[in-house]
Amino acid sequence: MSAPLPTCYLNGAYLPLAEARVSPLDRAFLFGDAVYEVIPVYAGRPFRLREHLDRLNRSLAAIRMAAPRSHPEWAAICQRLIAQNGGQDSYLYIQVTRGGELGRNHAWPDGLTPTLFAYATSLDATPEKLLDQGVAAITAEETRWTRRDIKSTALLANILLKKLAVDAGAFETILLEKGELTEGSSTTVHVVSDGVVHTPPNGHHVLPGTTRDVVTELAVRLNLSSNSSRVTEAQLRSADEIWLAFATRGILPVTRLDGTAVGNGKPGPLFKRMHAAFVDYTRELAGTPPL
Ligand SMILES: Cc1ncc(COP(=O)(O)O)c(C=O)c1O
Repeated sequence: MSAPLPTCYLNGAYLPLAEARVSPLDRAFLFGDAVYEVIPVYAGRPFRLREHLDRLNRSLAAIRMAAPRSHPEWAAICQRLIAQNGGQDSYLYIQVTRGGELGRNHAWPDGLTPTLFAYATSLDATPEKLLDQGVAAITAEETRWTRRDIKSTALLANILLKKLAVDAGAFETILLEKGELTEGSSTTVHVVSDGVVHTPPNGHHVLPGTTRDVVTELAVRLNLSSNSSRVTEAQLRSADEIWLAFATRGILPVTRLDGTAVGNGKPGPLFKRMHAAFVDYTRELAGTPPL
């Protein structure tokens, strides 16, 4: 696992992560009353920053919080964190909490000052083995709440579901609800059948993934048919290819599902094309303005 980089941002200050302190009365600690983003940084440039910040603002609005910083202000914070941590490939974590109060009230009082926190973690290249052999996934029934579109730090169900995968020697738990695919515990799932890339539509039941949108855009470039529509459990289990999409790794191929080979058990031809297009796209953006 990659270690966090030394400098973080907390409420306007840049300081050593080891010295950063937040009150235990912060509502993020007491209630998980906070939202977050995870933004990859390639060649010193935050990737899809506007899309991540737009989603952060949508999450904030959904929990009835005002945006505490503008996009250019967040961009400046990100650039300074990247620079102070050496400019390497990394990912930034941004968290906005509702703040603290002297007490513990479910219904928050007006006028709280949000806590703003961000830090960086180095991002090593995806191990070749994962790209050559793919990863295993298991399935499980959804146990999460009904507002999965909010990128909330209240991730208890997600972490329990992810742990099921790790306990089974797998990488991800793919979630099913009433016989249909929703997403992975921390990933968007794409299913390839007969040359068409399918992904469940956005809505309250899934997080609108930023990487998912990149995959959809690159499908156009590659002249691949892609389709945002409901995916049944049967379609998932008979897929030619299954991909996981998430900010820190782009896309990864799933080659075993619940112990059974997906397709011929190797990363498929469309995965290879999409992955190459993804890497090219991140390189194309190097040196361009982040917003
Ligand atoms: C539940 C869930 N779905 C999907 C995703 C993928 O989103 P993104 O591509 O923006 O990383 C994540 C990422 O953390 C996630 O936690």
